Amino acid sequence: MSTFKEGLQDVVAATSSICYIDGDNGVLSYRGIDIHDLAESSSFEEVCYLLWFGTLPRTAEIDRLAGDLAKNRPVPPEVFALIKSFPRDANPMDVMRTAVTALGLYDPDRSATDAEANLRKAYRLTGQIAGIVAAYERIRHGHEPVAPDATLRHAANFLYMLSGKRPSATAEKAMDVALILHADHELNASTFAGRVTAATLSDMHSGVTSAIGALKGPLHGGANIEVMRMLLEIGEVSKVDAWVKEALASKKKISGFGHRVYRTEDPRATHLRMMSRELCENSGNGKWFEMSRLIEETVKREKKINANVDFYSATVYYTLGIAVDLFTPIFAVSRISGWTAHILEQLGNNRLIRPRAEYLGPAYPARYIPMGER
Ligand SMILES: CC(C)(COP(=O)(O)OP(=O)(O)OC[C@H]1O[C@@H](n2cnc3c(N)ncnc32)[C@H](O)[C@@H]1OP(=O)(O)O)[C@@H](O)C(=O)NCCC(=O)NCCS
Repeated sequence: MSTFKEGLQDVVAATSSICYIDGDNGVLSYRGIDIHDLAESSSFEEVCYLLWFGTLPRTAEIDRLAGDLAKNRPVPPEVFALIKSFPRDANPMDVMRTAVTALGLYDPDRSATDAEANLRKAYRLTGQIAGIVAAYERIRHGHEPVAPDATLRHAANFLYMLSGKRPSATAEKAMDVALILHADHELNASTFAGRVTAATLSDMHSGVTSAIGALKGPLHGGANIEVMRMLLEIGEVSKVDAWVKEALASKKKISGFGHRVYRTEDPRATHLRMMSRELCENSGNGKWFEMSRLIEETVKREKKINANVDFYSATVYYTLGIAVDLFTPIFAVSRISGWTAHILEQLGNNRLIRPRAEYLGPAYPARYIPMGER
């Protein structure tokens, strides 16, 4: 047996043609196309096409996909009824995980597991997860969910369903770029969890439910919430330096920093930093960007650790007026495209994923001691 690597660091656990990362040089690409090109020129719908089908779409193909995604947005009323029964102070990631399980029960392809049905489930889940996040936000504040608007693209429609108001062009663009940047990231913990579940020949909704559970944790997608909580706790630019030094001295991990794969800047952070600056300054909230810059400078100087995707996405979402506990669910609104692409790829050439553990327990054979002798 091969030697154990803690946290499976640098272990290659699958072959994949979806996402290429060069952690030493800060490169991220979907299907070989650099993330910077995609962030600058593409759209979330185009990225979905790229992840699911492997090539950039032509006009007719992107129009068809955008139409299909829009048609698949409605969430069954039974699922809304279920969400209405949830506690108003539930963790929105728990709401999403439970609602996705329920979506599986009402999916028109629920008993089909062929590749075409799985692709339809990928469309449907991508449309519906955004609807679930928006609906829970409305319901917990005593409002009815907003029906999707089929004339709006995914990013704009999501913001519309959250607030009931059509977003500004700036807000739509910021959300679209954020969705592009979060869409896929090779074998991150949630995608791996999704692939492991799919590889047992379970079903698409079970795979996505596993992925949502993994994304929730603060070492993964949950970090963007922790970043904003940290900024709110610090509160003032003048308090940053002392707060960060104290946190580092007490060996505290600072959310939004460090990465298992990147040894240099996370290329997604480069875009999100620019977006954060623009949105914070233009909305009169320059303080959040200033504090973030100062935290980044201090962590880099003291620990030589770079900001990751979650650091600047926090202030991007905050200045868009989004509730802090929805930041991780928004990660899932995007990453559903990558999760489903990976599940489709896994099932295209499947083998059960079943590694081994290095046994460290009592030596075998240990004697079974009868009850009266213990
Ligand atoms: C992402 C993360 C889980 C990667 O973990 P990992 O590859 O197991 O790396 P480790 O936790 O072993 O960290 C390696 C070293 O860097 C330090 N480090 C890593 N991330 C740090 C952080 N965010 N703040 C302070 N120190 C950090 C560790 O303390 C450790 O230092 P040491 O060798 O002196 O003990 C980790 O960097 C982290 O917890 N970051 C904060 C949470 C976060 O932002 N998650 C989102 C990731 S996209």
